[in-house]
Amino acid sequence: LHLEEKYLQPETKEVNGILMTKMISDNWDKIWNFQAKPDDLLIATYAKAGTTWTQEIVDMIQNDGDLQKCQRANTFDRHPFIEWALPPPLSSGLDLANKMPSPRTLKTHLPVQMLPPSFWKENTKIIYVARNAKDCLVSYYHFSRMNKMVPDPGSWEEYIETFKAGKVLWGSWYDHVKGWWHAKDQHRILYLFYEDMKEDPKREIQKILKFLEKEVSEEVLDKIIHHTSFEVMKENPMANYTTLPTSIMDHSISPFMRRGMPGDWKNYFTVAQNEDFDKDYERKMAGSTLTFRTAL
Ligand code: A3P
Repeated sequence: LHLEEKYLQPETKEVNGILMTKMISDNWDKIWNFQAKPDDLLIATYAKAGTTWTQEIVDMIQNDGDLQKCQRANTFDRHPFIEWALPPPLSSGLDLANKMPSPRTLKTHLPVQMLPPSFWKENTKIIYVARNAKDCLVSYYHFSRMNKMVPDPGSWEEYIETFKAGKVLWGSWYDHVKGWWHAKDQHRILYLFYEDMKEDPKREIQKILKFLEKEVSEEVLDKIIHHTSFEVMKENPMANYTTLPTSIMDHSISPFMRRGMPGDWKNYFTVAQNEDFDKDYERKMAGSTLTFRTAL
């Protein structure tokens, strides 16, 4: 088997009712038993919520705004994606995490109930980023078209239903954001919103600084804001996923750094699809104090 072909894994298999890649499912015991450390930092998100953006902000903070240090490797090598499993000889998230010196910054898309329990036991700091459902859906749809490591999304109409039913990798968006929202009152979790980050990156970066107990000069803060803007990250090969072969991610179908704009869903949903989506949304989110902005 050609090495690149090993990345391609449209096959899925559920773990505890949550859709995962077959490789994640087959490796689930090892993932569940992952040993977190007290000085780890975990960036947790639902897919397409602004993970890569947050990773770049955190890396810039940790490196005091040193651009060269942040260029040391691809996003996915700087921050192990703990559940992402690949067949040997490729490195899985666990392999990368286990050989990385501390302090480590890790990434996950796991729903809260599936987070390896050592994270709670070690009281690891967690930054959770949430993004409104419609923009997440649009982003996930395009990502699934260009990324051969995840299942094909089918047509736009089909994908809306798949997303609503939570039959996508990492499961239901609704359960994910609500589950982590609930957990934030019991653990060291900084719960952020993509829309807030876009509206006022300085304010949100300052929240992250405080959470990480870090201070940077005003000059460095400005540098971080600039370097982590959509326009700059779009051109950064260490952050935009363009170093992967086209057979895995085809940016000509849809770039990873696609639009980066709250409210882009308006360019995709018809009026009827939107009304339908909203009705279903009300039901699924009823009783939760969690609210989102769907545009700025
Ligand atoms: P769009 O597809 O809506 O453009 P993740 O990193 O969780 O996979 O999320 C990817 C989404 O975040 C994509 O959304 C991508 O464009 C957007 N994104 C990445 N970097 C960003 C930045 N610096 N500012 C705003 N959005 C960004």
